[in-house]
Amino acid sequence: MNFHVLTLFPEMVENGLKTSITGRAIEEGKISIDATNIRDFSEDKHKKVDDYPYGGGAGMLMQAQPVYDAYQHVVSQIPENHKRRVVYVTPQGYPFTQRTAEQLAKNDDLILLCGHYEGIDERVLEEIVTDYISIGDYVLTGGELAAMVMIDAISRLVPGVLHNEMSAETESFHGYLLEYPQYTRPEEWHEKMVPEILLSGNQKKIEDWKLEEAKKRTMKRRPDLYDQYFALHECKDKLMLNKTLNMDMIESINRGRAILIARDGNDVLIQDKETGYFHHSGTKKDFFMNLPKEVRLSIKKIVLHQEEMVEPVHKLLNLQYRLVCYQSVYTPRERLPITGLYRADGKPTENGVTIRPLTMEYVDEVQYTYDHADYQKVQDKDYIKERIEKGRMYGAFVGDELAGMIGVHNDDSIGMLYVYEKYRGKRIGTALQTYMINKMIDLGWRPYSQIMVGDEASTKIQRSLNMFLSKTPIIWMGQD
Ligand code: ADE
Repeated sequence: MNFHVLTLFPEMVENGLKTSITGRAIEEGKISIDATNIRDFSEDKHKKVDDYPYGGGAGMLMQAQPVYDAYQHVVSQIPENHKRRVVYVTPQGYPFTQRTAEQLAKNDDLILLCGHYEGIDERVLEEIVTDYISIGDYVLTGGELAAMVMIDAISRLVPGVLHNEMSAETESFHGYLLEYPQYTRPEEWHEKMVPEILLSGNQKKIEDWKLEEAKKRTMKRRPDLYDQYFALHECKDKLMLNKTLNMDMIESINRGRAILIARDGNDVLIQDKETGYFHHSGTKKDFFMNLPKEVRLSIKKIVLHQEEMVEPVHKLLNLQYRLVCYQSVYTPRERLPITGLYRADGKPTENGVTIRPLTMEYVDEVQYTYDHADYQKVQDKDYIKERIEKGRMYGAFVGDELAGMIGVHNDDSIGMLYVYEKYRGKRIGTALQTYMINKMIDLGWRPYSQIMVGDEASTKIQRSLNMFLSKTPIIWMGQD
């Protein structure tokens, strides 16, 4: 990710970000930050960049010309195929949130325009700005600090900046809840003891305590967030009435990725923050009809959980039916036994099998494999690359040879299991699936996959690992 800052104080931005984690990320080439001095592009002989506002009013405005030329200079250095946005950091923008950071992190290049004085001539903003964003309802002396806040929050979402291993860390743990209180050594400080439960070793009780404390804290400090948490969890209770069928929605809520869009009795519509997919469960025929028009029009891809909704959704939203899958869910809370399949310490088993995250050196091989697979085709090359980059693909190796692989989709479901023909019948598929299930359990997640209707090989493996298949399928719909 490349950040380009248009500013009157380039050294402020560069100095502020060259230390700590962002500094390391710059050194490792995970991000780059270049600050361009708008003043260098002034055509005025005194390098003036501001002037009085027409119609009067307090203070000075930045002129269009130097801002535009600085912008053109930066753009000329960005390859055409790069995804980019141009953000004007301003108190007149929409609020910057974790969700905004997640969305912006999907770009290759971000241009951040920092204002000074009383603002910038509207005409240049109209020509170049794609997003107006504020970091809060207060006014700073300039946009630099705001831009730095955004760069920091976005950088930590760039793959490799924090670490590559799959973790629940970047999502707030239960979604919409603040963190529970935390303690480290010593056990007693200023006559205050660490809560006893945290020393008990009873993991289940500890998890319950953390959740309760997080709820209490959120209720007190952020009642607005708590209301959202509460509404989503009421929906979850409805979805739990058919746990296996609705597991994608339940887990989206559990993992803090769901936004509640609408609810009508037992009908629930959420949107997954990461994938942008809407997910609906329920049978009210007029549910979509009754949505506000702008919500209806924003639905471009959706997962339906009842077949009878396909027709009304197709008619109303003009979405084509795409994929029909069974939900496959691992319901026990305990990890699966791994004996003979792989070793937890990463050393080879007696048969020489190890499992480890796939690194970028395997991108071409993995892409080729899925592209030419006899089952389990995944043709989107960028998707595979992104999954590997994010540490979401794992390989089973026999000696040094790649024998099979598995991944985690961008909705965090398990998928893409593939074993090379030569290695089939040797429990490699079972080993990979077991590895992924245990990883999810360790993160406190409920492992699930989606199996295309008719995929006998996968169905067999799922059943052998105690995964429950939904009785009826879910239906993926989209515009293409
Ligand atoms: N510039 C001045 N104040 C700001 C704020 N609150 N957010 C973003 N940019 C700003």
